[in-house]
Amino acid sequence: MRWTKFIHLTDTHLIEPGALLYGNDPLQRVQAALDSICREHGDADFVLVTGDLAHTGQPAAYQALQQAFSRLPMPVRWVIGNHDDREAFCAQFPTVPRDANGFVQQRLALPLGELLILDTNAPGVPYGVFCAQRQAWLAEALASSAEAPLYIAMHHPPFDVGLASMDAIGLKDAAAFEAVLAPHRHRVRHLFFGHVHRPISGSWCGVPFSTLRATNHQVAFDLHAAEIPGSFEPPAYAVVLAHAQQTLVHNHDFLDASPRFPL
Ligand SMILES: [Fe+2]
Repeated sequence: MRWTKFIHLTDTHLIEPGALLYGNDPLQRVQAALDSICREHGDADFVLVTGDLAHTGQPAAYQALQQAFSRLPMPVRWVIGNHDDREAFCAQFPTVPRDANGFVQQRLALPLGELLILDTNAPGVPYGVFCAQRQAWLAEALASSAEAPLYIAMHHPPFDVGLASMDAIGLKDAAAFEAVLAPHRHRVRHLFFGHVHRPISGSWCGVPFSTLRATNHQVAFDLHAAEIPGSFEPPAYAVVLAHAQQTLVHNHDFLDASPRFPL
């Protein structure tokens, strides 16, 4: 049986090349992740990046993003997040599909089912929005996907994750999202999201999910803090292996250089 293999990377937060964000160079961090992907996982089928591609939506950041990822041997599937600027992103990536209302949403056929890429961005706000137009698009995509196994990628988690500071900027239309998905939930093999800059996995209404640390900066583990506590825990990407019966998500601290030894 052939595994579908892909990389989940999130929250690259690129800014103008050469500038620092919280003392780190986000582009250098992305380049380190791409070095690792090319060296260790060049056989992946694609790379999925779940939003906050740019920190303030600058055109120069999207230009740097495109240049950096262009060296990958596999395609990249982009999701936009609350820090992104939809129009600036689409200007730099004109071939990325948009739905009839201009949202960066698409259906991608995979050997093992369909990947639905959703757009939860709303200009000027940190929380996620899944408006009636996007709900209608999802309802139609779900209805016309027959009984195919589904994989969903979005920036904002459509449920609380137990971190007060991040739940305050979660998906505003979570109840509507849940209602649209409910008749098809049994077919969802996995939900991938970003936004929280922390490794979290579990299940929601029976749907398995995972997210992971970002490339430049993290959110510290504090369940109760009202303000978002930043941290510099190590960056990571995930290597996802999937076939009809199984989905595996391996988190990889790609900057770890500790020695290896026989156990
Ligand atoms: Fe982010």
